[in-house]
Amino acid sequence: MIRIGIIGTGNRGIAGYGLYILKEKNDIAQIVAVSDPDKKRLKTAQLALKIPSNCAFTDTKKLLDMENLDAVIITSPDYTHKDIAVSAFKRNLDVLCEKPLALTVRDCDEILAAQKKSGRILCVGFVLRYNNFYRKMYEMINIEKKIGRVVMAGAMDSVSTGSQYFFHGWWRLRKNSGGLLVQKATHSVDILNWIVNSKPERVYGEGGLAVFGGKESNTKVCSKCSKKKNCLESIVNKKVSWDYGVANFTMEVEDKCVFAKEIDVYDHEILTIRYQNKARAFFVENQFTPDYKREFWFIGDKGRMYGIDPYIVSEKDRKKPYLEIVYRHTRKKEVIPVKLAPGGHGGGDPALIEDFLNCCISRKKPLADGEAGRESIAICAGGEKSIETGRIINIR
Ligand SMILES: NC(=O)c1ccc[n+]([C@@H]2O[C@H](COP(=O)([O-])OP(=O)(O)OC[C@H]3O[C@@H](n4cnc5c(N)ncnc54)[C@H](O)[C@@H]3O)[C@@H](O)[C@H]2O)c1
Repeated sequence: MIRIGIIGTGNRGIAGYGLYILKEKNDIAQIVAVSDPDKKRLKTAQLALKIPSNCAFTDTKKLLDMENLDAVIITSPDYTHKDIAVSAFKRNLDVLCEKPLALTVRDCDEILAAQKKSGRILCVGFVLRYNNFYRKMYEMINIEKKIGRVVMAGAMDSVSTGSQYFFHGWWRLRKNSGGLLVQKATHSVDILNWIVNSKPERVYGEGGLAVFGGKESNTKVCSKCSKKKNCLESIVNKKVSWDYGVANFTMEVEDKCVFAKEIDVYDHEILTIRYQNKARAFFVENQFTPDYKREFWFIGDKGRMYGIDPYIVSEKDRKKPYLEIVYRHTRKKEVIPVKLAPGGHGGGDPALIEDFLNCCISRKKPLADGEAGRESIAICAGGEKSIETGRIINIR
């Protein structure tokens, strides 16, 4: 039995990982403890995950100091990841750390150094790598070499959650989340890195805050706002249900005003990236689109791949993924069928946990390892810096 502590019992801690392990992986793993400074969240987690009250801590250090713990899952806010991961490695624990691995490259390197010293497993929450749609893209490009040598790539994240939670909660402050690129783009940028199959060399970015942020008080909340009925961005119901396939879980979310002065995270950003193998890529993200989708382009010397991740216009309207290759010399189009596995992120959540638990047993490296977490942050944090300074950022 792998004895696991979950640190941060919000959406991902309970609905994303905890309930899945409890229901589906109880033959090899057991959640033995939880920690969260928020007592309400902690109690909810303790009941949902069937944890004895003396193993539910408001102080994460107490969880880390427990005897007979084998691993931790870090699902606390982004700015806490570095210190918790380093402490966990100092206590010889295996670590599944949610993305982003940390807010800066320096912090990622500190985590990687602690991991190396401890010899323990580090898996980063890049669930998309484990989703069949992205696996298929990887296989066709890097194993079957269908489009030849990849010369250009691109990704566009259209994200509708700006007014659903992102600008209403802790994510809206750079000191908490590192910015939109570090917090959100890190997923798709990791897919670019993985499939382009090279390390990034330099990045240039543009971006800004066009729809969210403004002049409202930092303490203003939708539930107490006189405009709540007419405001198009207001959170009407603080209770949100998360359904990652094994259980529908409802919890309260923050409802701070999305037009607050303090908001310093951008809502739209564009990057150009150059890789060591001389491939060039672009990345675009927008937080005020009506739909939620990820699109990818890979152009090689023999053809072009285009794919669109199943997108959501409304929760009732989940679409299937679409993946095609067009070959340059014949102009022939091949549409590739993709069947997603059940579970959150198109089956990515359960497959990532499976990989992490298997690696805890076999001591092998997970597919989404610490290096991948670091390389993605190199681009995303570099991109944020480029937007700030107007300069091209050399990554190494
Ligand atoms: N892989 C993915 O697709 C994915 C999706 C969403 C979020 N995430 C990541 O998962 C993490 C959690 O996000 P969420 O949406 O569950 O947020 P959340 O706000 O729902 O949950 C975070 C919880 O951590 C608690 N917390 C704060 N400080 C803590 C500390 N020092 N120790 C322990 N707990 C602490 C908070 O009280 C809260 O309950 C973030 O890093 C986020 O970027 C990943």
